[in-house]
Amino acid sequence: MCGIVGYTGWRDAESVLVEGLKALEYRGYDSYGLAISDGAISVVKDAGRISDYRNNGNIPAGNVGIGHTRWATHGVPSAKNAHPHTDCTGNFAIVHNGIIENYARLRAELTSSGHVFASDTDSEVIAHLFEECYDGDMMHSLQEVVGRLEGSYAVLVISSEDNAIAAARNRSPLVIGVGDGEIICASDLVPIINYTREVIFLEDGDCAVFSENTLRIVNGGSDIARPPEFIAFDPESARKTGFDHYMIKEIFEEPEAFSRTLASVQDIDEIQKFIKRAESVMVVASGTSYHAGMIFRYLMEEFSGIPVRTEIASEYRYVRPSPDEVVLVISQSGETADALTALRRAKFYRCRTIALTNTLGSSITREADHVFYTMAGPEISVAATKSFIAQLAALMKIVSFCGGRGCSLLLTDVKQSIEAVLQLDVAEATAICARASTLISIGRGVFYPVALEAALKMKEISYIHAEGYAGGELKHGPIALLSEETPVIAFVPPGETRNLMLANLKEIASRRAPIVAFADPDDVDVAEIAEVVIPIRHRNVFADVAAYTVAAQMLSYEVAKRLGRDIDKPRNLAKSVTVE
Ligand code: AGP
Repeated sequence: MCGIVGYTGWRDAESVLVEGLKALEYRGYDSYGLAISDGAISVVKDAGRISDYRNNGNIPAGNVGIGHTRWATHGVPSAKNAHPHTDCTGNFAIVHNGIIENYARLRAELTSSGHVFASDTDSEVIAHLFEECYDGDMMHSLQEVVGRLEGSYAVLVISSEDNAIAAARNRSPLVIGVGDGEIICASDLVPIINYTREVIFLEDGDCAVFSENTLRIVNGGSDIARPPEFIAFDPESARKTGFDHYMIKEIFEEPEAFSRTLASVQDIDEIQKFIKRAESVMVVASGTSYHAGMIFRYLMEEFSGIPVRTEIASEYRYVRPSPDEVVLVISQSGETADALTALRRAKFYRCRTIALTNTLGSSITREADHVFYTMAGPEISVAATKSFIAQLAALMKIVSFCGGRGCSLLLTDVKQSIEAVLQLDVAEATAICARASTLISIGRGVFYPVALEAALKMKEISYIHAEGYAGGELKHGPIALLSEETPVIAFVPPGETRNLMLANLKEIASRRAPIVAFADPDDVDVAEIAEVVIPIRHRNVFADVAAYTVAAQMLSYEVAKRLGRDIDKPRNLAKSVTVE
């Protein structure tokens, strides 16, 4: 959700913070702000985006500061609700990511003891608590404050009296980069790697206080020695480099993301034993990651015979876990609150757990019994594209190991299929979809989750109402929506779903709904009935699933571009959803 950044060192803090917030903006982008301490605290904040920021003279030069880019939870996006928040004296400023669950009670207590609140946020209580608890010792004061907080937080605090930043973490990510005479702390690695590759991932319960060359971490009342670890990270991979949007750049990185991940998933024997010992696998994830999990289910059951169930992470709290199941939690960010809660629930019920994530050191990696990494590299666009394809690579590799040599061979065609799709022209299909206000997307079998993902991507970035259905479900209700104004996107690959999908296309054509079909170029029946065919040469089911998905991502991108949408930062969304 929100992005936070703090800097202390020898550079001008304002420019480090502004650059850091630009790098973090994909976490939330409805308002921004920063505060600098130079013996007094100065704050600038506003609704809008950090790219709108101009130093209006209110921010002095200084070497200690904190910044924030927000995704609103409590209180509408506005200047008064933007972070940093200050206490009544103006001696403390805080930025916060997470939700303070007991804020209403704290606010009532603080108000009755005379504190005056300036915002509608839950976060502001932290600033007033600091004012209450401050005793001249940042670490001690911070521990007192967090002792009164319930909920999730990554919080940074500066004071007018200290040349230091206080930081605390509970269920919200926070990384400290240790440079030469400087420390930069942020919600994730992206703003840090321009300054240093030596990083410390704070853990839940950690309180830290740092200045340019001192760092103290305390957890549970004891000092913790946590040496920095070196992070290999290519800063170029987080830049747009000539593309109009991060999303299309990231789509073009998919062949590499796929093959890098395939090569990196090594300790598969252990996982294979792990899975084969269990009675079944339960996959838990949200959004796009959930769709990857659904694809895994179809492939795993077909090729290995191992039963797989899937559950949306936010619904898993209502499901009774069985200790005989291995629970596979998929989360690109590794920070999705629903996924983390599900992981904890699985562990509580003594299930063995596997995490699949793209984010080194993320919360999910600390708690699962076994961790797999996808090698997508940083994904900046809010809409997941290459991280999804990297998830498919890891999941297909698991399938191939559990399913035997026959399916390992299928993996070799996938990269080539994706590369071929990147050359497609989807202009005609774009024109049809862009004039619609509702779109339907259908597929069957393993192409049903592909249809769901196509609809999700379309609505996320184009804002066109798009719904995915299993082809066979159309006649059970959604068919009532069909008309000349309701295009249907249909996934009709050769194979076991093709004939029934063709029957669906006939039903659709009879209602005069335009059909955009993804199909093999030689399928003349599909060509005859569809308004437009996006031709994808059939190779095998693994390659087709990946290729059809990438083609649908490209279509969504082109539609959103034609409609002039804010593709990389769609309205109301955030990349890392750290609230339930
Ligand atoms: C994908 O385009 C979306 N941004 C969203 O559905 C996302 O996949 C979901 O929030 C899960 O995120 P995660 O993989 O980081 O857990």
